[in-house]
Amino acid sequence: MAAVAKSRVAIYPGSFDPITNGHLDLIRRAAPQFEELVVAVLRHDTKDADFPLPERLEMIRKSVDGLANVRVASFDGLLVDFARQQNASLIVRGIRAVSDYEYELQMALMNRKLAPGVETVFMLPGEAYGYLSSRLVKEVCQHGGEIDDFVPPHVAEALRARRDRKVGTG
Ligand code: PNS
Repeated sequence: MAAVAKSRVAIYPGSFDPITNGHLDLIRRAAPQFEELVVAVLRHDTKDADFPLPERLEMIRKSVDGLANVRVASFDGLLVDFARQQNASLIVRGIRAVSDYEYELQMALMNRKLAPGVETVFMLPGEAYGYLSSRLVKEVCQHGGEIDDFVPPHVAEALRARRDRKVGTG
């Protein structure tokens, strides 16, 4: 069978507040499919994100260290504008369950309307990560639960430090 030509640059966007093993699994699956995968972190106001942007970027960079064709960047404004700036014609999104699909479908169709030629591809994370989300990991940590299976060790440390700071300030 003839080799399939690889698309050049793909964007993997998200809040990554913080990155989880589910995100990482998807990055590891997606990266070999493209010449370059840009992990694009939505800047967000500090009030909207639990971890400030520099911390989220650092946590991702540490997690993807060693993946040669993965670049980490931040963006503000419309995702499709960022995709165009990066010369990317593909957006990668992970779908964990049917419940993700409706929201993802809306976003993908809106993005395609805004930028014809920028397509979204959906990928499935490993089965082991189907229940993982940044929000749930933060909640589990906040209530003293074990999080080491869900995030890389340096992220677990940051989550526990954040929890302890919160406890400290009452
Ligand atoms: O990890 P998340 O929070 O589900 O990621 C959502 C994200 C960042 C991909 C989405 O909110 C986004 O693309 N925001 C940028 C603004 C934008 O382009 N909005 C229109 C999308 S239809």
